[in-house]
Amino acid sequence: MSMAAGSEVAGTIASYDRSAAEFAVRNASFRPARALAAFAACVPAGSLVLDAGSGPGRDCAYLAELGFRPVALDLSRAMLAEGVRRGLTAPATQADLRRLPFADASFSGAWASASLLHLPGIDLVPTLRELARIIGRGCLYLALKEGEGEAWQERLGGPRFFRYYQVDAVEAAVREAGFEVTARWAGLPGPDGYPWLNLVAMIS
Ligand SMILES: C[S@@+](CC[C@H](N)C(=O)[O-])C[C@H]1O[C@@H](n2cnc3c(N)ncnc32)[C@H](O)[C@@H]1O
Repeated sequence: MSMAAGSEVAGTIASYDRSAAEFAVRNASFRPARALAAFAACVPAGSLVLDAGSGPGRDCAYLAELGFRPVALDLSRAMLAEGVRRGLTAPATQADLRRLPFADASFSGAWASASLLHLPGIDLVPTLRELARIIGRGCLYLALKEGEGEAWQERLGGPRFFRYYQVDAVEAAVREAGFEVTARWAGLPGPDGYPWLNLVAMIS
């Protein structure tokens, strides 16, 4: 499926806005145990962390259980509203990952699970720099899909844009944004057959 260049984020968010309740139900029971353990080992206990592209905020609950103070951020108003309906207690902000409405060094960590994969490739490094800016010193968790190129995929709610990455290219982007990669591992393929690529990175 082809869509106009420049519509990647708006088209994807419109798709999530139309399918927030179904997304929340389908994904509610997944617990990213390895990622949570790796993130918890990297970020000081009790600190403020940003769930960057939180969706309905399932991971905010896990991060709070670990003793962190999560803040949810998503551009889809319906995803955040669905989170609140399902009991999300973390503060929630509707904003674009590419322009975070937070001061420099205001968080100790950022958790970006399955969110930056919806940005055009050209936005990856600037968005990682934006995350580095609000973290100052701390850690980032990133989950993307491994593969080549980009595609619009038909999903609940309509087409969503996906950008796929090779792990070495992601490592290079993360380093370019000022982080050091401390862990990386592959995950099982999702419904579209692409395996997950997981990284933890630190700015010291
Ligand atoms: C696959 S969902 C992942 C949700 C959650 N992090 C999880 O792992 O279940 C992707 C989320 O990223 C959000 N998103 C995509 N592009 C965004 C952008 N430019 N700014 C903020 N949120 C964005 C979508 O609205 C959606 O909630």
